[in-house]
Amino acid sequence: MSKRIYNIPGSFMLGAASSAWQTEGWTGKKPHQDSYMDLWYKKTPELWHNGYGPTIATDFYNRYREDAALMVEAGLDCYRTSIDWSRFIEDYENNTVNEEAAAYYDDLIDTLISSGVKPMICLEHYELPAYLFEKYGGWASRHVVDLYAGYSREVFKRYSGKVKYFMTFNEPIVVQTRIYLDSVRWPFIQDTKTAMQWNFHKILATAAACKIYREEGFNSDGGKIGVILNPEVCYPRSAAPHDVEAAEMFDLFFNRIYLDPSIKGTIPQELTDILAENGCLFDHNDWDIDTIRENTVDLIGINLYQPVRVKARESGWSETYFHPKKYYEHHDLQGRKMNPHRGWEIFPKIMYDFGMRMKNEYGNIEWFIAENGMGVENEHLNKNESGVIQDDYRIDFISEHLKWLLKAVEEGSNCIGYMLWAFTDNVSPQNAFKNRYGLVEIDLEDNRNRRMKKSGRWFRSVTDSRTFTA
Ligand code: BG6
Repeated sequence: MSKRIYNIPGSFMLGAASSAWQTEGWTGKKPHQDSYMDLWYKKTPELWHNGYGPTIATDFYNRYREDAALMVEAGLDCYRTSIDWSRFIEDYENNTVNEEAAAYYDDLIDTLISSGVKPMICLEHYELPAYLFEKYGGWASRHVVDLYAGYSREVFKRYSGKVKYFMTFNEPIVVQTRIYLDSVRWPFIQDTKTAMQWNFHKILATAAACKIYREEGFNSDGGKIGVILNPEVCYPRSAAPHDVEAAEMFDLFFNRIYLDPSIKGTIPQELTDILAENGCLFDHNDWDIDTIRENTVDLIGINLYQPVRVKARESGWSETYFHPKKYYEHHDLQGRKMNPHRGWEIFPKIMYDFGMRMKNEYGNIEWFIAENGMGVENEHLNKNESGVIQDDYRIDFISEHLKWLLKAVEEGSNCIGYMLWAFTDNVSPQNAFKNRYGLVEIDLEDNRNRRMKKSGRWFRSVTDSRTFTA
């Protein structure tokens, strides 16, 4: 198909994202200030690619001013990162702020603003304090919801005058799914009820933070609060009822489980019925349910990388424990286009399909792409004679996804922006520095020096001209 030029609406945000634990490194962290991610890395460093973990990451803690200058060079309207809860709070039981850490976040936020880059702050990108994981079992405990609410208040008090977008979590479903549902991450415990309890408490924690944000007037300067979810656009193998039902079950357990309560204030009845039948229903009370109903989000961030394709199970579920896989299997659609590095399918139409779903099923709430990007191994092999990575594949990837996203916008979906994962290469869970996502290269062989990739220069031309070709 021939390419054409697309225009990007003037108010549509174009930015990039990252997180505290994937960039900052441990400089300035006290021994008791590990996050769950730090703890996981310390327990099983051998499982992390080449042993790289969050120890130094990109050394953002020391180099954020240099990175802010690069954000200007790449033309970012906004930058998302998280506040590392485990670093920001000194005493987790009483929510006393660690002033040294806060001084760092103060200066980071001020530096972004003075550089003309709007900061977007996420309160938890997996950085649950290790202390709370070890003492209370993390989000299994109702007490942790109250502690998180107190932490959120401290962040709002300090930054609501400067930051206009607060996001309560990044991908709140992920950590417990890996630990307790699939048992592939330390401490490797299969316990579906605990996974569901974590989900419920994070849903409640979002509602609790929204309540504080609005009732205590932290939104008085026009700020907004939301949550960043990672729903997967799920396509059934066929239109046959058993395949469609398999897709609906996937959607219920991995998408609607957060979308419905965050946006509509309700937890799907089908979900609680199935969990109850299988002895996995989370503990909850009427007050919690009311809190969730009355405190929905202002907007939603969506991380969207790849579709998921499912089919009805061809053999029965033979495990003794309950897992949503009881109702579906993954479907290996032949001929689909894959990213050979990350093993993820490339199917840009997910942007459009998801955008239309927000319009048609979720009251056309304001939303934005909070992450989308392409992870590629050994990018240093793609350098030109000046040492600049020639990542045309990333430019194509972004252009195609933007094209489909803007089609949804044209058709009335209330999408207000696109944020690329990631601004610089960074440490990922386990894949640490293996699949590189950045507009900016981090050279691990040379003092973590930063070098803009071809895609970084291209991104600048897009934000300057508000046009791109696809
Ligand atoms: C997202 C997460 O789901 O995927 C990020 O929010 C993560 O934290 C990104 O880094 C890419 O994942 P991976 O495993 O390909 O590096």
